[in-house]
Amino acid sequence: MTEAVLLVGGRGTRLQPLTLNTPKPMVPAAGVPFLAHQLARAKAAGVDHVVLATSYLAEVFEPYFGDGSAHGLRLTYVTEDEPLGTGGAIRSAAGALAAGPGEPVLVFNGDILTGLDIPGLLGSHRRAGADVTLHLTRVADPRAFGLVPTAADGRVLAFTEKPQHPDEIVTDQINAGAYVFRREVIDAIPTGRPVSVERETFPGLLASGALLHGVVDTAYWLDLGRPASFVQASADLVRGVVRSPAVPGEPGEYLVLPGARVEDGALLGGGTVVGAGAHVAAGADVEGSVVLEGARIEEGARIRASMVGAGARVGPRTVLDGVVIGDHAEIGADNELCDGARIWCGTTIPDAAIRFSAA
Ligand code: GTP
Repeated sequence: MTEAVLLVGGRGTRLQPLTLNTPKPMVPAAGVPFLAHQLARAKAAGVDHVVLATSYLAEVFEPYFGDGSAHGLRLTYVTEDEPLGTGGAIRSAAGALAAGPGEPVLVFNGDILTGLDIPGLLGSHRRAGADVTLHLTRVADPRAFGLVPTAADGRVLAFTEKPQHPDEIVTDQINAGAYVFRREVIDAIPTGRPVSVERETFPGLLASGALLHGVVDTAYWLDLGRPASFVQASADLVRGVVRSPAVPGEPGEYLVLPGARVEDGALLGGGTVVGAGAHVAAGADVEGSVVLEGARIEEGARIRASMVGAGARVGPRTVLDGVVIGDHAEIGADNELCDGARIWCGTTIPDAAIRFSAA
């Protein structure tokens, strides 16, 4: 049996307002909750039991995913009453795991989209005889991530979480949020208090002489924590830049879910997804964006790289570029919003009230 723990209990503050009523893994990407893509990819890699470590808005997962049989997996839910951090969440999942001593357990952050070779990661872990094996990826600017330099044989040399000083940037390899733990290592994480694997468990293991092994895999990798990357991930899934068996359609320039209405003369492209019950009027142009269920895009609106929340309305000729519109917000006609603007759920913006020039 291959088991995985999926960490899905974070508050997703960087993705607010869309995560005020919906936990980040349940926000739809390419037409289904993002978590559905992760489960589908895990199943395709041979995982047959997934423990979902929930906390924030924990109650919404089980009604959607049930016992997992519809997704071809067995799902178990564990919930922390108080969020215990990444390490605490992994520890709380331990009671639901069947893996015996010495056996590997996969652990995935719930907000990473990657084409990682999961069987390859497991094989590397076995060959190295490691206590923990980490998926590492290379990024151009590693400052916002955890740096993980390794020796030529893959042995991890250090952990530097979000380096502040240029001297600390000794590598472009970062912790990519997928791990293989030897079962006993999970059982040794302290209980009953918050623990961060990145800041406490991994550095502690390294200091105690444990073998931490890094595998650099340069397949597609994106951290969906920020709105711009969430939108990008959804578009990449729609276009098939990264493949997920859970996308409800063939790869293409756009995806329109059943029950949505797109009028003749509307333009969709760049991996845009239009959710069930949403309406895109003639003359609207929606590029590389996520339009959630029941949203209305009115005639002549131009939307790029943005998320439009469930039941929200974007008025005629309004321009959005790199914006998050909260659920049920109403944006009147002739507005112009760009560059990371966020409109809170339920907010009303009158006609021609906001004009940010993108220039
Ligand atoms: P931000 O608030 O925007 O930083 O997002 P986040 O809360 O998701 O935090 P972060 O991106 O650092 O979390 C990485 C992964 O761990 C995500 O999949 C989270 O859902 C998960 N996670 C973070 N903290 C906890 C926790 O306390 N409990 C559980 N069960 N999962 C957590």
